[in-house]
Amino acid sequence: MEKKDFLYEGKAKQIYSTDDENYVIIHYKDDATAGNGEKKGSIKDKGIINNQITALLFTRLEEKGIRTHFKEKLNDRDQLCEKVKIFPLEVIVRNIITGSMSKRLGVKEGTKPENTILEICYKNDEYGDPLINDHHAVALGLATYDELKKIYEITLKINDFLKELFDKEGIILVDFKIEFGKNSKGEILLADEITPDTCRLWDKETGKKLDKDRFRQDLGGIEEAYIEILKRLEA
Ligand code: C5P
Repeated sequence: MEKKDFLYEGKAKQIYSTDDENYVIIHYKDDATAGNGEKKGSIKDKGIINNQITALLFTRLEEKGIRTHFKEKLNDRDQLCEKVKIFPLEVIVRNIITGSMSKRLGVKEGTKPENTILEICYKNDEYGDPLINDHHAVALGLATYDELKKIYEITLKINDFLKELFDKEGIILVDFKIEFGKNSKGEILLADEITPDTCRLWDKETGKKLDKDRFRQDLGGIEEAYIEILKRLEA
């Protein structure tokens, strides 16, 4: 299938229509942003690597019975996906406390909580993607209680599967962000991407950060870290 009209540009991807109204082509860019767009840059070949990582992870999730928007990888930077209406929510899972939760609540970075922590944020650049709860989401019309319940159920399954998958490759899945959408049949599908842009991934042996924190914190070796993740997943 070929790209038709340009539909939308996000921070890391572009979306194009296709001849089939139920499908879109998602193009992965090298652009990188952090701190709600305050820091801007580019990571060499990131789009190519992240297209591959998302294709690989979404294929494995589909094999485990988790429905995703992903259909097929078309070339280096493009993938064919089912068209969905995205819930304007970022669903965050934390297996280890760090990042914004450490800052907000004063919890020491690297603390392992007894439970798995789920958060939702309202996808809204103007307000800096604020943390909200279910009641806010329903009041704002972002999702229904029933949809949120389904989203959390799927999210926990995704976390169980990904935690084990990364663990086998010597990587700790610290936390990650995912997004969901609804297709034309009203089915809830995992959408967007799962990549080192959207996950915190630490090497089990050394604790080395193999994710976008290398860009956020100017640690260098960003492209190498992303390639390392892809290599281990492909092994
Ligand atoms: O910054 P924070 O600690 O809330 O991030 C939690 C997780 O969600 C991290 O893995 C981060 O990469 C991801 N995230 C994201 N996009 C955002 C916010 C967070 O992918 N806009």
